[in-house]
Amino acid sequence: MAEELVIEQGNKEEQYKVLLPQIEALLAGEPDIIANMANVSAALKQTFNFFWTGFYRVKGDMLVLSPFQGPIACTRIKYGKGVCGTAWKEARTIIVPDVDKFPGHIACNTASKSEIVVPLLKDGNVIAVLDIDSDRLNCFDETDSAYLEKISNLIVR
Ligand code: SME
Repeated sequence: MAEELVIEQGNKEEQYKVLLPQIEALLAGEPDIIANMANVSAALKQTFNFFWTGFYRVKGDMLVLSPFQGPIACTRIKYGKGVCGTAWKEARTIIVPDVDKFPGHIACNTASKSEIVVPLLKDGNVIAVLDIDSDRLNCFDETDSAYLEKISNLIVR
C-alpha cells in the first residue's frame, strides 16, 4: 500500500516536470491573462483529470469566476470566504485534504472532496487564485503546491 502511494506520488512529480515547460511554451508571447488562464486550466485538467480546475480574479471585494474546466461553479466569492477567499486574504496556498472539515468551505459541487487554492501575486498583491478540486480525499500535497505556484508565477509574469 505504502509502496503504491510512493509510486503514485513519483508519477505526479514526473507529470508536473513534463507539464511545466509545456505551459511555459504555451504562455510565451501571449500577454492576455484570460487566454493564459484558459489554457492553463485546460492543461491541468487534461494532464491530471482533476474534477475542477480554474481561476477566480479579484474584482473589488470579490473573487469573480474566470476561465475554468469542469462543472459549473459559483460565480462570486467574498474576501475571506471559503477556501478561495481565505487564500486571497492570507495570500498563501491552502491545501484542504477534506473539504467537509474546512470551516466555511463553499460547496459548488458535492462531488468535490479535497481542494488546493494558490494565490497569483503581482507586486505583492493577490490578483487572482488558482483553484483545483478533486473528487478524492487528500489529493493534494507539497508537490502540487510547489508546481502550481511555479505555474501561477508564469501566468502573472
Ligand atoms: N470550494 C471553493 C469555491 C470554489 S469551487 O470549489 C469551484 C471555496 O470554498 O472557496
